[in-house]
Amino acid sequence: MKKKKNIHAGWLVVALLLLLAPVAASAQEAAAGGTLKPVSEFDKIADRQERAIALFNEAGKVIQSPRCLNCHPAGERPTQGNALSPHQPWVVRGNDGFGAAAMRCATCHQAANYDVARVPGHPKWHLAPLSMAWQGRTLAQICEQIKDKSRNDNMDMAKLVHHMAEDSLVGWAWQPGAGRTSAPGSQKEFGALIRAWADAGAFCPRT
Ligand code: HEC
Ligand code: HEC
Repeated sequence: MKKKKNIHAGWLVVALLLLLAPVAASAQEAAAGGTLKPVSEFDKIADRQERAIALFNEAGKVIQSPRCLNCHPAGERPTQGNALSPHQPWVVRGNDGFGAAAMRCATCHQAANYDVARVPGHPKWHLAPLSMAWQGRTLAQICEQIKDKSRNDNMDMAKLVHHMAEDSLVGWAWQPGAGRTSAPGSQKEFGALIRAWADAGAFCPRT
């Protein structure tokens, strides 16, 4: 009788481990979000403007990925997930993008991802200002506005390139945690595309 009980307990532990293992694995890895073409692939486009546009369209795979768009919403609330669903719980951007006084982003979003609770993290986790809203806009519109100093926090092209290639809040999109799909390629490859786009004159897609 006693022995039988032990066997059952043993199976219960195994069953629990089997149930939990895949959850733990998916919480740690980010699903790959696709690849980016290397800059060298665009060298064959002789026309400078056409090359810039093609480079920006490729970089657009990152810019219009859900990891970036969720923090660049057109309204008062962040969105979440690959379907850009409204953020749960209800939070608003507040005066500074860090949330209303009673519900600051950092109440939940810590300095690093906390995968056990699926909460993404970064020391400066907050929303891009409304002038930098990307959701619902075409890549051409996003291109024009990120170059526009009156809307991009007065960044010149060098600063803009640096921000995309080096900023660690942007970089979160490639380490999003909790099984989220990462942005395509790597931040390094994305930065190289943006740099090459700037070097080719930073022309924007026409539509
Ligand atoms: C009460 C807790 C809480 C507060 C406050 C909060 N968040 Fe979140 N946030 C979460 C949780 C939990 C998730 C993960 C949801 C999921 O993916 O299951 C999340 C996810 C997100 C995502 C989605 C990431 C992605 O790509 O899927 C964004 C963007 C985000 N929060 C922005 C903000 C901003 C900006 C603020 C402040 C204005 C904020 N959050 C305040 C709990 C909170
Ligand atoms: C956690 C939120 C968050 C995520 C995720 C995020 N951004 Fe931002 N982004 C911001 C904030 C906030 C600003 C405003 C400048 C600042 O405070 O750093 C900004 C500004 C920018 C700007 C400045 C110019 C402009 O007009 O938008 C660029 C470019 C940019 N982000 C690119 C990206 C890209 C590319 C990704 C995805 C790979 C991304 N961001 C993901 C929050 C975010």
